[in-house]
Amino acid sequence: MNSLFDTYKLGSIELPNRVVMAPMTRVRASATGVPSVSAARYYAQRATAGLIVSEGISPSKQGQSEPNIPGLYNDEQESAWRPITQAVHEAGGRIFAQLMHGGRIGHPEINGMQPVGASAIAAQGTIFNSGGRLAFVTPVEMSVAQIQEQVEVFVDAAERAIAAGFDGVEIHGANGYLIQQFLSDNSNQRTDQYGGSHGNRARFAVEVATAVSDAIGADRVGIRFSPGGKFHDMNESDPAGLYGTVIEALNPLGLAYLHILETASDAINDDIRKAWTGPLIVNPATVGSARFVDKAAADRWLDRGADLIAFGRYYISNPDLVRRLREGIELAEPDLDTFYSGGDKGYIDYPEAPAV
Ligand SMILES: Cc1cc2nc3c(=O)[nH]c(=O)nc-3n(C[C@H](O)[C@H](O)[C@H](O)COP(=O)(O)O)c2cc1C
Repeated sequence: MNSLFDTYKLGSIELPNRVVMAPMTRVRASATGVPSVSAARYYAQRATAGLIVSEGISPSKQGQSEPNIPGLYNDEQESAWRPITQAVHEAGGRIFAQLMHGGRIGHPEINGMQPVGASAIAAQGTIFNSGGRLAFVTPVEMSVAQIQEQVEVFVDAAERAIAAGFDGVEIHGANGYLIQQFLSDNSNQRTDQYGGSHGNRARFAVEVATAVSDAIGADRVGIRFSPGGKFHDMNESDPAGLYGTVIEALNPLGLAYLHILETASDAINDDIRKAWTGPLIVNPATVGSARFVDKAAADRWLDRGADLIAFGRYYISNPDLVRRLREGIELAEPDLDTFYSGGDKGYIDYPEAPAV
């Protein structure tokens, strides 16, 4: 069985271990999407991870979901990311940018724009804003030309990510954001080439992955999915068939990796492992699951064929997570109250375990 502490060659980069820091939104950017200065410290503190996947980054103003999410769609944001990626590299690490287009998971009171979606169907539920939670609004159903514009939005942000020093990008196709809104039947009722059959619902994801790969090289592009996941009001009636189709279409691209949350059954995930011909990252959890991903969950998935394992919440509170896992040092529990607020508190003040 592979060990978490084995090296791994991911595309053109060498990872010193198989521990991935999962993408985590921390809501500490400016109102205009400029990442905070402290983000350099936060990510550099976690640079012993085999790979860091950044918090979700808005690829356009239109694609912004929650408030104070960083962006990668203008020069000021791009420049502000440069010292962050540099700090990670100087600390010996590697970092991909997660490109997160909210689609209908957004609100005019947050970015001043009406969200767009696959169909004009609002998500059930609410989105947080500084003044309290807001009910989701009905998105504008995009024309085919508008969908093509969103593909270009991902390409532009990916090019900016590389210019800002990221080692690659992860396309966020999970957790009910725009790409999954095309995949899931309940949010996509289109009757054109982007709706209906599995192949049609997969089309947007595949077009984004293809266009981004053409722009920056497939070996620098990963994609994340939550097959069958319910977060943000998703409901995929046939995740096995749908993701079978998605993977068949993505395999020939030669992407750096596929990253899945454990939102489907073991049987479906095993089929995904068999069907996917490239590197597989598994995050053995769902959003909000009671148990955080720990070493036992990681080993279970390495045994089932995962190449790399993503850890989320324990990475918030254990900057030296790799060492703690390797040496069996107890993990610190994160403070849930500072996940999405608190400035430097709960962000860059978690200590490393003392030397033994
Ligand atoms: C504070 C927080 C923010 C998150 N933000 C993102 C995000 O921006 N993009 C994403 O794909 N997943 C996001 N997630 C989900 C995590 O990547 C991960 O899937 C989840 O926390 C389960 O893993 P864990 O048990 O190791 O925490 C977030 C989770 C948390 C706790």
